Amino acid sequence: MSKLEDIVSLCKRRGFIFPGSDVYGGMAGTWDFGPLGVSLKRKIMDAWWNYFVDSRDDMYGVDAAIIMNPITWKASGHTETFNDPLVECKACHGRFRADKLVDNATESITTEEFLAANVKCPTCGKTDWGDVRKFNMMFKMTVGPVADDEHIAYLRPETAQGIFTNYKNVVDTIYPDIPFGIAQQGKAFRNEISPRDFILRDRECSQMEIEYFVRPDAWEEAFEQLLKEYHFFLTEKMGLSANNIHDEEVPAEDRAHYSKRTVDLEYDYPNGREELMGVAYRTDFDLSNIAKASGKSMEYRDKNTGEVFVPHVVEPSIGVERLMLAVLAEAYTEDEIDGNTRVLLKLPADLAPYRFCVSPLLKNKPELVEKARTVYDALKAKYGNVTWDDSGNIGKRYRKQDEIGTPKCVVIDFDTLEDDTVTVRDRDTAEQVRVAIDEL
Ligand code: GAP
Repeated sequence: MSKLEDIVSLCKRRGFIFPGSDVYGGMAGTWDFGPLGVSLKRKIMDAWWNYFVDSRDDMYGVDAAIIMNPITWKASGHTETFNDPLVECKACHGRFRADKLVDNATESITTEEFLAANVKCPTCGKTDWGDVRKFNMMFKMTVGPVADDEHIAYLRPETAQGIFTNYKNVVDTIYPDIPFGIAQQGKAFRNEISPRDFILRDRECSQMEIEYFVRPDAWEEAFEQLLKEYHFFLTEKMGLSANNIHDEEVPAEDRAHYSKRTVDLEYDYPNGREELMGVAYRTDFDLSNIAKASGKSMEYRDKNTGEVFVPHVVEPSIGVERLMLAVLAEAYTEDEIDGNTRVLLKLPADLAPYRFCVSPLLKNKPELVEKARTVYDALKAKYGNVTWDDSGNIGKRYRKQDEIGTPKCVVIDFDTLEDDTVTVRDRDTAEQVRVAIDEL
């Protein structure tokens, strides 16, 4: 298993991920994606959209505003219940998530339970604690030129509410047959007490969520089906190994306030097993609360049977950064070539920032460079994500492309000028074969 520090270091060295606001010393819980990171991130998001939206007839996309009317968060229960247990060390005033300091604790840990565990402060080592308090994780802001209590709004903590609040708009414009899903990708913000483990727990993250609307008696079938489809997506499209993914039935006391059943898909990250995503049965909780808060009906009328009901919802939700970290951890490999350690990213070809790297063997031979340019142009026109590299010697170029996960390096040499064949070198095996340019 790869080490988290190795992945962090590769990501910085090769331009995947940098600390947010790096130049000013960073901003905890935020990350910036560099040229290769944004490429990988977009490919992951596009693969998800293709698989769960474009290739299906029962899914519709939306892209809702991040700043929503604050009634949204009252109706959804987030103002009341979107809390983490916060505890403060009275000696050094360090603040921590209480449940993360006690083995097997849940988010509903009480002061008594916390104190009974006799935890030492991770910063100063003392055991002088205050009470465990509820800390609401929504980022508060004011909207417009008057900064008073009447103008408070929040950065959305989940993309889901932008889907629920558009449910009626979609039904009244698209007339989908039930069951159907509404999907959204976008930023979500959480004022995490302790952001940690690189991009695993961030204050600003991206989510990919589906709210799948079903008849009230059909949720179990939809739940199992979506779970199965996510396993397929994670293993076949994202390259994650099935052995590293674990379904965890979440007990009632640990479930979010809206859920009657949740299965978390946990992944064996370098620092241990953590939640990658969840599938939740949200019942009619959200639609019924929106109906109450807005005074508008959220009922669905079945065109075929004439039945009228409020749909129930199954929600698969996955964070892009958590998925990206799993993809990177799975791909990060060290092996040995000619007695030297080599680092490579065995990314699936469809996710690799570049599919091909094209190089002239020597940079100072115009005839090689010219020929290589024609090969580069042809591959670029066909695949788009093709890179050019004529820096350093060929060995160094291979090492660099291995580290960024480029599956194939194509090298143009003097034989190419004679017979129109090139060397194609494979990232994973380091094997080289001779291939006709026409067959690339
Ligand atoms: N709409 C349901 C919802 O938001 P959640 O379990 O709170 O449920 C869903 O979040 C997913 O979003 C998580 O499984 C995780 O992949 C991602 N996620 C949540 N908080 C995150 C954070 N602070 N940093 C990165 N990803 C996060």
